[in-house]
This record gives sequence, structure tokens and C-alpha cells, in this order.
Amino acid sequence: MSFQKAAWPRRLRSQEWYGGESRDAIYHRSWMKNQGLPADLFDGRPVVGICNTWSELTPCNAHLRDLAERVKHGIYEAGGLPVEFPVFSPGEPSLRPTAMMYRNLCAMDVEEALRANPLDGVVLLAGCDKTTPALLMGAASVDIPAILVSGGPMLNGWFRGERVGSGTALWQMSEDIKAGKMSRADFLEAEQSMSRSPGSCNTMGTASTMASMAEALGMALSGNAAIPAVDSRRRVMAHLTGRRIVDMVKDDLKPSDILTREAFENAIRTNGAIGGSTNAVIHLLAIARRVGIELTLDDWDRCGRDIPTIVDLMPSGRFLMEEFFYAGGLPVVLKMLLEGGKLHGDALTVSGATMAEEIAEVRNWNEEVIRPVERALTQQGGIAVLCGNLAPNGAVLKPSAASPHLMQHRGPAVVFEDIDHYKARIEDESLDIDENSVMVLKNCGPRGYPGMAEVGNMGLPPKVLRKGITDMVRISDARMSGTAYGTVILHTAPEAAVGGPLAIVEDGDMIEVDVAARRIHLDVPEETIRARLAAWAPTVKEPGSGFARLFHLHVGGADTGADFDFLIGSRGHEVPRESH
Ligand code: FES
Repeated sequence: MSFQKAAWPRRLRSQEWYGGESRDAIYHRSWMKNQGLPADLFDGRPVVGICNTWSELTPCNAHLRDLAERVKHGIYEAGGLPVEFPVFSPGEPSLRPTAMMYRNLCAMDVEEALRANPLDGVVLLAGCDKTTPALLMGAASVDIPAILVSGGPMLNGWFRGERVGSGTALWQMSEDIKAGKMSRADFLEAEQSMSRSPGSCNTMGTASTMASMAEALGMALSGNAAIPAVDSRRRVMAHLTGRRIVDMVKDDLKPSDILTREAFENAIRTNGAIGGSTNAVIHLLAIARRVGIELTLDDWDRCGRDIPTIVDLMPSGRFLMEEFFYAGGLPVVLKMLLEGGKLHGDALTVSGATMAEEIAEVRNWNEEVIRPVERALTQQGGIAVLCGNLAPNGAVLKPSAASPHLMQHRGPAVVFEDIDHYKARIEDESLDIDENSVMVLKNCGPRGYPGMAEVGNMGLPPKVLRKGITDMVRISDARMSGTAYGTVILHTAPEAAVGGPLAIVEDGDMIEVDVAARRIHLDVPEETIRARLAAWAPTVKEPGSGFARLFHLHVGGADTGADFDFLIGSRGHEVPRESH
């Protein structure tokens, strides 16, 4: 830990707006005072933004205004001036074509809002999948003191005595309908039980994974990830976060002090231990590049390869976030990693203490939910990164959510040119497909869909499901919901829409997958592959205008985080000139 606290008191950034008696200073202060703010709040104390992704169109974040009030209590109490502001909120359940298309837009919004306004620090309020990485990306590029507080997960869903996991139950039930194991009436009844409180998905889906990543990176207070949204301790966490950011501003503890290579390695290993979402791969790659760390898919494979998945949560396991919290939450996992020699204990956190100091006193209260390593869900957690002629820049698979008998597989491809082709074909009883086939979906990567939708866990064909088969090898350049499961190979790079080899796979081509060897291979003669690639032409049209055009022209590959090329890196907090 090499962080040196800045001297205090000192002149803060916000005083460039509010300090002094010039016409401009009066201009900046007097308009703010129309909100009923006393004059002494502009006396040089830390001005702290509360960057809020609250939106009724992002139901997982619909309770964040309440938490913002709690953050304000903490900021005032510690002697700061809180100012809440909204940013674009990419909500997973409703945004089309996919919320991922708007992660970078949200990150831009955050970055510009932080830089352009008189802010000395920021509390990031996030919850739904894309909001957490977007806020961390934006804050990292500005590099003023920043701390994240999550909205927290929903309470457990229950239906007829069984836990209902957000997303996971939906995918399972829709397969049961196709297989004739569940009635539509029961499905509609189950819908009422899925989302029974405010909060984000209650499985170890992308939202809970990214909340865990924020905590493992050291960007949130210890214990933040798992507290249910409606538990009073979530409000306490928000309050304490508000208190803490004021001291972070005084100390000048910035994202670049916390987001080190060691912090990212901690997060990757944590993702393996919690059986976290494959989406964390893309988001961590993008966040790392915002602070100049060249994190790669190789880092994911290297750091995650020998990490057992010890958290028994859906979609990989049995329980939900509520039980994870009662068992002790993420600090227990971090402590087990530390004791196993798999965590950089000296990594700095937003509290000012090291990771090891933060978790020294924690205890596991339920070894069914957070299992001892000997009873791990799988000894090979983490994310497997596969490479080969079908994915020269890599593809990912989550072993804890896959079927052991399919980890080594050879089968003929059944190709879907895009998601519409898949939808049109999958229920066709004459489709030449069985459980040995390899389902291949093209043109669903960042540029192809556009936005890289969560469609990689293609539902199986009804005629296979009716045989009682529940898993097949599936390959695509898409993503998969963190709540989903199966032997699903994702993020194949380069994507089909830019001419990656996935684009030239044809029905009947043999494909070999060997997860232990980290290999994915299209068993077609090399000259045939070369000839097909030479004849390939793009099918995805370039949008003529608007954000869709910006996205198309500038989005990067999944293997580097799918950030915009012009947003990679940190641009700091300097503003070029005075406003008047
Ligand atoms: Fe928003 Fe899952 S859909 S957290």
C-alpha cells in the first residue's frame, strides 16, 4: 500500500467555481442557493455528487432515490455538501435492442457530468447490470474520489415451496413449457412470485456479480454487495458511504489509487469463487482500460483457472442473494480466498484500509451457502477462455454453469445466421438437429446485434427437450444473462459481423470443443476456411446517423471490453476554460 493522504485543509476543485467574490463565483453560488442552501455550505467544504441511476424504467434501481437521501445524511454529517444528479440509466429488462448498447452512453454521461461540474468527489448509486460498470468506467476516466453503493438484491422469490431465482427460473420454466412439463397457467401464476421486493436480480446474475466485483475491487465498502435492497442495513450502508466519501475527498483517495492490477486480479478470482457472470469479463476489461491497465482474457484464464466455486447460488447452485447475505456475504469469500493464498491482501479499498484489514474479523455463518473448499460446487470455477481457429481472439465459457459431459465434445454445426433466423428455425420439427449437434449463432456481437445481446444461451429445440435433454453445446458471439446456465460458449472474437471465422461456419461443419485444453476448433480444411473468408461480405448495415452510428463505428471487440475506442483511458478532471 503506497497511498499517501493529501494534506488537509487545502483548496478543493469546487472552489474554482464557488470560491471568492468575483462575478463568476457569485454567479455559480447564487443559482445554487435557489435550492435553499445556506451560504456557509460553499465555504470550501467537499462538494460531493451523488450520481444516481434511479429510473422507473430501470425497476431494479427504482428505490435509489431513497438511498440517495441516506447518502446525503452521511455527507452532511461528515461536513460535506451533497448534490444529487441523474444520469442515463440502462435498464436491463426493457431496453432495446439491448441494455449493453447503452453502457458506454451511460459511462460517457457520468464522465462528462463529473468533469464539467464543481464536484470534489462522487458517490455512485447503481444496481441493475450495466449501471455498475458504466458508473465505474465514467468515474475511473475522471479520477476524482469515488465510491459505489449498490441498490442491493431483491428478496427471495418463492413459488409452491421452491425458490424462484430472477431470470434463472424464467429460463427454466420456459424450457419446461416447451418440453410439456409445465402449463401456461402455472407459468403465469409463477410470474407473480418472481420479483417480490425492490432491488436487483436475486441470483448471482450480472447485477450481483458486478456488485461483488465493485467490492472485490475495493471500490465499495466491505459488505456492500449482498445486503438486500429492503433490509435496513442497506440504508445504513448508504449512510456510511456518504460519511466515507467526505474523508476520501480530504485524503484525495482516487480510483487510480484503488484500481490497480492487484485489485483486478482479486476481482477475477472472486468471480470464480462466487460463480459470477460471464458479463464480468467484458466489464472488468473495460474498467481496467479506463485506468490504463491492459487486462486481457489471458488474465481471466490464468487467475481464475484454479479457483473453486464455493458460493452455492443460482444459476450454478441452489440459494439466492438473501441467503448469501445471512451467511456473511462477500467478505467471507474474500477471506477464504486470502487464506488460500488467492487474494492480494494489501490491495487498498475505499475505506482507506487494506482488503486484509477489512475482512480480518468475518465469519462464515452457513457452510451450505458458502461452502468449504473441499465441498466446492466445482473445483474449476472461474471463466475458461477458449482459443482456436474459430475464435482467434478468444471465447469464454463458465464451467460452473456447464454440463461436465459436454466439456469435451465434437459435433456437427447447426447454424443460425442471426437471432431472427434462430427464432424462425428452432421450433421447426424438420430441423436436422439432435443433442450431439453444436448450435452456432452468428451476428450477435457488439456490432452485429447491435450491442451484443444476451441471447447466447439459445433455448434448445423442442424435439430435443422432449427427449429429456437439458443441455447442448452452443457457440456464439453474443453474451449470456448472468442468470442463465448451460454449456454455452460466448463472446467469440472477432465477432461474425466484422468477419471473424464464426461468420463462415456452415451447417454440418464439425466443431470440436475441449475445455480442459482451452481449445475450440472448426474441423474444416484450412484452404476451405481461407476461401470462405475471402468470399465473405458484411451483412450488417452501417447506421446513417444517431447514437447507433456512433456505436457501430467505435465499439470495440468483446475481447477488449466493448468500450468505444475514443473512451479508453483516463482523461482526468481538468476543464479547459471558465464558463463565463
Ligand atoms: Fe436489473 Fe437483473 S434485470 S438487475
